[in-house]
Amino acid sequence: MAAQTFPLACPAHLAAADADAFVADHLDAATFRRHVRARDRDVLVVEVAGAIVGYSMLVYGRPAAEDVLAAVSEQAGAELSKCYVLPEHHGTPAAVELMSATLQAAGRRGVGAVWLGVNQGNERAQRFYRKHGFARAGVRQFLVGASRESDYVMERTLTGAAG
Ligand SMILES: CC(C)(COP(=O)(O)OP(=O)(O)OC[C@H]1O[C@@H](n2cnc3c(N)ncnc32)[C@H](O)[C@@H]1OP(=O)(O)O)[C@@H](O)C(=O)NCCC(=O)NCCS
Repeated sequence: MAAQTFPLACPAHLAAADADAFVADHLDAATFRRHVRARDRDVLVVEVAGAIVGYSMLVYGRPAAEDVLAAVSEQAGAELSKCYVLPEHHGTPAAVELMSATLQAAGRRGVGAVWLGVNQGNERAQRFYRKHGFARAGVRQFLVGASRESDYVMERTLTGAAG
């Protein structure tokens, strides 16, 4: 599912080989097994009729990258590192349920704000994040294979709002 949905978040100019390499190196089953077991991460899924149709991943802690640290607030305590829904479920409640559960999970960990990076050309995701209270905080550089991409950094405060 990660392999199927990752290319949807990539800009059109990104070489398929770079996206494929990223999937092979970072989105394989062994890597996800480590993510699920990691104490500093939460992996969430949303199901329809018993089948997983989307997933998200939170990574707890302060941002490591200098450009992200410079962009986010002092409250930023988790990265929404992944948020993907299968295309046939876009525009349905699946993504809303996934985002709601993800923000609640971050709130349960006492996180004050969640940040994320989204490709500057990914207008659908940006609109989705804005609808869910994220606002643009800055930019960061992000490597996909050999291609250096520019992401917007967005942040959402949770205090009293995660439900
Ligand atoms: C991001 C994602 C989880 C959001 O789920 P979704 O079901 O598409 O979200 P919604 O339909 O609730 O919201 C998307 C909004 O963008 C709008 N939209 C759709 N296509 C758009 C486009 N090309 N440009 C701008 N807005 C667009 C939709 O109309 C909707 O707005 P509306 O509710 O005001 O009509 C889903 O699109 C997805 O998995 N995308 C592929 C992976 C991805 O990009 N993940 C994010 C990585 S950072």
